[in-house]
Amino acid sequence: MDGNGRWARSHRLSRIAGHRAGVKPIRMVVKTAREIGVEFLTLFAFSTENKKRPKREVEALFTLLKHFLRHETKNLIKNKIRLKVIGDIEWFPESVQKEIKKTVDATERGSAGAHGLTLILALNYGGRQDIIQACQRITKEIQRREITPSEIDEKFFSGYLYTRDLPDPDLLIRTSNEYRISNFLLWQLSYAEIWVTPVLWPDFTKSVFLEALISYQNRKRRFGMVK
Ligand code: IPE
Ligand code: MG
Repeated sequence: MDGNGRWARSHRLSRIAGHRAGVKPIRMVVKTAREIGVEFLTLFAFSTENKKRPKREVEALFTLLKHFLRHETKNLIKNKIRLKVIGDIEWFPESVQKEIKKTVDATERGSAGAHGLTLILALNYGGRQDIIQACQRITKEIQRREITPSEIDEKFFSGYLYTRDLPDPDLLIRTSNEYRISNFLLWQLSYAEIWVTPVLWPDFTKSVFLEALISYQNRKRRFGMVK
């Protein structure tokens, strides 16, 4: 979800006002994904690098996140949407962690196994960090002689990433005209289709979202094979 800052500048507003304007499209993509039957939607909300932003901005993002969780939990449950988090949230203030855990638990219970959409928030997430934490856990298990190196294959390794229970993404949507991965799901995006739009995140509408999905539907995915 990129471009909040640029959107704010073009409207002569503060960066924080830009993040505030970015909440509406979040509600829209969640609702739309649920309606059309998307099973997994991951939002890159806060990267490991975002921690280096000014304290005021980071705190404003925390406040927005708490608000979002508090106001949306009921709605998520009603619509059988289950919330999951990928990333290292231990770094977040206690109050934010609590709110996250509360919503994750409530939506897990609420959907009782029959969820229509899994909404995944990437929070303090970094693709490299994800791979490193997997390596650390695997090597510990080798040291304890619980596993042997020959057991490690792609499927095995995927099981140690934050995304262990989730399928690899089919489509990566990038707003605000950036042609890079920005340390998102490095391992998991191997065969994802990429769609880039100049639209800034606060201006991301349902018709832009559907345009991305239609473009995806017209791609021919060969996964490196001939047919
Ligand atoms: C993305 O918008 C939102 C977050 C990282 C939370 P940016 O804040 O990166 O917006 P630009 O890149 O400055 O326009
Ligand atoms: Mg940015």
